[in-house]
Amino acid sequence: MIAAPSPLPVVILISGRGSNLQSIIDAVAQQRLAVDIRAVISNRPAAAGLQRAREAGLAVEVVDHTQFPDRQAFDQALLTCIERFQPALVVLAGFMRILTAGFVHHYQGRMLNIHPSLLPAFPGMNTHRRALQAGCSQHGASIHFVTEAVDGGPVVLQAQVPVQPDDTATTLAARVLEQEHRLYPLAISWFAEQRLQLDSSGQATLDGKVLTGPVIVSQESETPC
Ligand code: GAR
Repeated sequence: MIAAPSPLPVVILISGRGSNLQSIIDAVAQQRLAVDIRAVISNRPAAAGLQRAREAGLAVEVVDHTQFPDRQAFDQALLTCIERFQPALVVLAGFMRILTAGFVHHYQGRMLNIHPSLLPAFPGMNTHRRALQAGCSQHGASIHFVTEAVDGGPVVLQAQVPVQPDDTATTLAARVLEQEHRLYPLAISWFAEQRLQLDSSGQATLDGKVLTGPVIVSQESETPC
């Protein structure tokens, strides 16, 4: 196996606010995470996260999905844009487009996503409202390898967030987001250190052992390493 170049080249895809992007930028700046953010790409020209990327001096690209006739054409343009930066890892950080099978296959084992629920619970949208409606006592966030199943790839890391009796979707979302900002730099650092991988049978491994379930961090606990 050819060793990945150091620090690991990554491309980050966003669609909006970019607070997870910021947590990754901050972790790199604080030397908690050794990656080279080669570019930040948004499918929305007005994404606030683009400004965060510019302020951090990062290369910024927009591939506007509204300018393409279909998903296939958009994904091809996105892939072409990403490939200019030769990433070893593609990081979906609030990237709100469903990707085609061909695109996902191209980045198999090299693409992570963050999702605001304890997957497999609540894939898709409005996760906080749905967790409250379902009466969950625990909610949270997940990091997973991206596969063709939307929000369905192997989950590698989760943070649990207890639901409070007076929570609204907004208050719950804010506490989950805090945990997201802890989780993503940690999972990316595992990948960059080649501790976290997707094996040929599609199972996630950490330190060479198959993950039968995600590593779980509770809200109070220290970050595991
Ligand atoms: C985050 O909560 C992320 O988990 C979610 O979008 C938000 C983006 O926030 N992603 C998904 O729902 C993907 N299915 P951010 O732009 O501030 O990072």
